Amino acid sequence: MKTQIIKINSTIQKDEIKKAADVLKNGGLVGIPTETVYGLGANALDEEAVKSVFVAKGRPQDNPLIVHISEFDEIYGLVKEVPESAKKLAEKYWPGPMTIILKKSDIIPSVVSAGLDTVAIRLPEHEIARAIIRQAGVPIAAPSANLSGSPSPTNAKCVYDDMNGRIPLIVDGGECNVGVESTVVTLVGDKPKILRPGGVTPEQIIEVLGETEIDKAVLNQIDKDEKVSSPGMKYKHYAPKTKIIIVRGDREKYFDFLKNQTGNFGALCFEDDVDEIKCKFVTYGISTNSFSQSKNIFSALRKADSLGVDVVYARYPYEDGMGLAVLNRLLRSAAFEVIEV
Ligand code: TXA
Ligand code: MG
Repeated sequence: MKTQIIKINSTIQKDEIKKAADVLKNGGLVGIPTETVYGLGANALDEEAVKSVFVAKGRPQDNPLIVHISEFDEIYGLVKEVPESAKKLAEKYWPGPMTIILKKSDIIPSVVSAGLDTVAIRLPEHEIARAIIRQAGVPIAAPSANLSGSPSPTNAKCVYDDMNGRIPLIVDGGECNVGVESTVVTLVGDKPKILRPGGVTPEQIIEVLGETEIDKAVLNQIDKDEKVSSPGMKYKHYAPKTKIIIVRGDREKYFDFLKNQTGNFGALCFEDDVDEIKCKFVTYGISTNSFSQSKNIFSALRKADSLGVDVVYARYPYEDGMGLAVLNRLLRSAAFEVIEV
């Protein structure tokens, strides 16, 4: 299959938007820009189309997909009930980088929810994404558009690198602004719970819902056989081919650590570190700005492979605000290997 890339900079490009929507309506897959990361879209109501998403990504069958809508009202029909808490969250953070899990209605095929009785719903902020969903006239199931296990793609080139020959069309809508995926919040169960930190911070969720749990899998490694709330959390994730090890400690200790290393190694550090770095390096944002880190973390992880080193030592980011999402991705890319200095 030949993979075509079309550039869409504005929603006034009606022909191009229609082209992408037509592929989706006909059961095809499209790489779609969103404000978080690029998605691999399929008609969520078309079982065969959804099955082909799992094939294209090499994704395990038991990891459910997020269903994307273009207007809030489209949620009715997809879920059994919309509780007050969901309305409040949506009012504040939709359109935006947040996904809400609710009890699914029968219209959602079980391949989408991987057999669960719940469904994840997201209303993205990206204008082009919403225009394509609106034009397609159906909800769009979309995981991140990377090969399963690899860092998520934050531009069309990264989607192409993973999906070339596997899907017919990629819409190039530029670089993603947020750079990490949406925050996944489940409203099924006694208390709201954050299953994956993302573009909306835990503090922002708590501001609306009050007491909210954070799933222990966010910062901890889960045993292979342990039951998890979000199946995606038990898989190897976001990993470049090169081994990543995180080094936790202050700036000077990190530099000392690097100085004492031998062999073929590199650094994954902050932009304001580079004057002190004597080995090959890639940067992921500025040390004091977790938004710049989230925007750059996935492309930095992909670039790590081009350093041609055996191991990359990464600096530990902040844990609060957007930093939690960055740390969550970095820990997984390093298979939770952290050296304390
Ligand atoms: O920002 C995003 O959320 C991006 C863009 C494309 O919208 N999408 C995305 O999808 O990150 P994906 O498939 O890479 O991650 C979805 C996560 C997985 O960890 C999955 O296990 C979880 O959401 N998930 C989906 N449906 C779920 C459900 N019903 N219950 C629990 N977890 C669910
Ligand atoms: Mg993903």
